[in-house]
Amino acid sequence: MSIESADDLIALRRIGRLVALALQAMERAAEPGMTTADLDESGAAVLRTGGARSAPQLVYGFPGFNLISVNEEIVHGIPGRRRLLPGDVVKLDVTAELDGYIADGARTVVLPPAPARARRLRDAAAAAFSRAAARARAGGLVSTIGREVERSVSFDGFSVIRSLTGHGVGRTIHEAPSVPNYYDPWQKDVLTEGLVLTIEPLIAERPCRVVEETDGWTLRTHNRALAAHFEETIVVTKGAPLVLTSTM
Ligand code: CO
Repeated sequence: MSIESADDLIALRRIGRLVALALQAMERAAEPGMTTADLDESGAAVLRTGGARSAPQLVYGFPGFNLISVNEEIVHGIPGRRRLLPGDVVKLDVTAELDGYIADGARTVVLPPAPARARRLRDAAAAAFSRAAARARAGGLVSTIGREVERSVSFDGFSVIRSLTGHGVGRTIHEAPSVPNYYDPWQKDVLTEGLVLTIEPLIAERPCRVVEETDGWTLRTHNRALAAHFEETIVVTKGAPLVLTSTM
């Protein structure tokens, strides 16, 4: 969607803030020994208190509130009885709805004692977001985002997962435009003022394809390479974008 009124922005900021707080609660709660269902609940509690609903549950019938993916799992993992282990790389992806508006954010947590390589992978996803967001300005091209993400991730020695992309968001989960994490010369969409989209580097230790687990939801790297994910919902402006899903 594109922001058309002050009310649009107020409503998006409200759900963006709740998503940020839910992510923060889950980041703080995550520890070895807990189940992914318990971790899910720590974020769900924040969202329910704020009156928000799980967008994947609402839109796709997802069997959980938040998406939690571990190690070689990239996205769409189902929270359940799995117990987290020391050193696990845990992707927390929160997409929530309030009053008809949707915001989407993700973080990667590496459980202690965190292996250095996993920490570097996590940091590379966040750094790629920051570098790409800094270049996402009204009048520029959507393809600038992917160019910057890929450049940053390669510089850090890792690989983008090419088949998973950012996207427009705001009224439903996946809207136009598609926001690839690599330079796509055929992606000719222009970034316009007020456009709401996600920038979400999805990266792995080494080049990989994406395969679906037998649960019908979880996507993982075909070669079991560790994956990391960092995502914010932003609003494009003439200057630095507004980041809706950050607590900062
Ligand atoms: Co997303």
